[in-house]
Amino acid sequence: MADASPVIAVRNLTKSFSGKTVVNKLSLQINPGEIYGFLGPNGSGKTTFIRMLSGLLRPDSGSGTCLGFDILRESGKIKPLIGYMAQRFSLYEDLSVRENLNFMARIYRINNMRRTVDETVERMGLSRFANQLAGTLSGGWKQRLALSACLLHRPRLLLLDEPTAGVDPKARRDFWDDIYSLAAEGVTSLISTHYMDEAERCHRLAYLAYGDLLVSGTADEVVSRSGLKTRAVSGANLHLLSPELKPLAGVEQVVPFGSTLHVSGHDEELLDQSLNSLKNGKYTWQKIDANLEEVFISLMQEREGG
Ligand SMILES: Nc1ncnc2c1ncn2[C@@H]1O[C@H](COP(=O)(O)OP(=O)(O)O)[C@@H](O)[C@H]1O
Ligand SMILES: [Mg+2]
Repeated sequence: MADASPVIAVRNLTKSFSGKTVVNKLSLQINPGEIYGFLGPNGSGKTTFIRMLSGLLRPDSGSGTCLGFDILRESGKIKPLIGYMAQRFSLYEDLSVRENLNFMARIYRINNMRRTVDETVERMGLSRFANQLAGTLSGGWKQRLALSACLLHRPRLLLLDEPTAGVDPKARRDFWDDIYSLAAEGVTSLISTHYMDEAERCHRLAYLAYGDLLVSGTADEVVSRSGLKTRAVSGANLHLLSPELKPLAGVEQVVPFGSTLHVSGHDEELLDQSLNSLKNGKYTWQKIDANLEEVFISLMQEREGG
């Protein structure tokens, strides 16, 4: 059972639409039970990549396996083994929660349909909504129903495309609790998200920018490899400080963060000289770790040559 071979292993996956490359030679490996985050601006190819893995879209070039099957030649074998939650997940709003699940169970040709649906309703805490029309559920519960639907056939891999977009914090936390317990059972998840707190929850993550994979690794690795240094500046009237800081040498980013100002750059010496050149006593600053958002913005700045 304990199979250490990767769940996803792709090399140089490439896809163009109308001559425009939207996924550019993407190579990636994801291990069993891993929760892998996919981040990057809209239009970066996250959805396209996920669809290529699921066998819904054929890559132009590159190769790879998903759950041990060749993504080009054996996509038919992959589809029944994955749970795919599309970006704008679809539910039948005029069917009840249970009817939605029954319908999906039939599509997946699940044996013991009744028992499986009952167990899923129970496990996912949907009991009190079982007979309610899906269209009348809150956003968080709709998302939970959509996740339940893609778990019915007990997939070993979940491909979740922005599953928590627009979902409130409590429902997002419940969702992540589910993903963690599934991971403990060996279920692997690839999750695209724009939320930085979710990025930090992933075992590893990748950042895509318009087709290119700019960085990947654990959150800590991504931050330390970036070499970005950040200082938290405190004091009165920080909003006046911001325009003063931005043009100084070594200062690449100035971002309000709660009651402080985060000031970042790669050249520590220049950065600190610039901070020390501020009028003495008025402001204090301390070294802190750069956060993922600062790192991602920095990567985009570098990519755009500024
Ligand atoms: N079926 C398609 N036909 C043409 N262009 C597409 C198609 N699917 C995606 N694209 C384009 O590919 C780029 C990447 O899109 P997408 O994979 O949806 O990115 P993301 O999920 O990161 O926002 C976008 O510019 C998008 O317009
Ligand atoms: Mg997308």
